[in-house]
Amino acid sequence: MSYKITFQPMGKTVEVDPTSLKEPRDGLRGGILQLALESDIDIDHACGGIAACSTCHVIVKEGGASIPEASDDEEDMLDSAPGLTLQSRLACQAVPDGSQDLVVEIPSWNRNLVKE
Ligand code: FES
Repeated sequence: MSYKITFQPMGKTVEVDPTSLKEPRDGLRGGILQLALESDIDIDHACGGIAACSTCHVIVKEGGASIPEASDDEEDMLDSAPGLTLQSRLACQAVPDGSQDLVVEIPSWNRNLVKE
């Protein structure tokens, strides 16, 4: 079943059909980071998507229940992310199961290349 992710603050909504995802690349596994990049929404991802940095930190404002719980590695990295919230996730590790639409906020420090 397809679902939607709305990226804020740019307000861009992406329709995701999990069955037509491009091949996962660089270990991105079809997560929020991959979906954003394929939609020309730039989120920093310094470590390339292996939960070894926290630059891909995003805030899942709605629909977070459709993303499996964070691994210990993700939790550890998030602990060092600036602006941590209860809804924070690493975009490279957060792979929605498609049961809900999502609203994802990209923190301002990750918006450097995004045209607003
Ligand atoms: Fe480094 Fe997600 S890209 S933790």
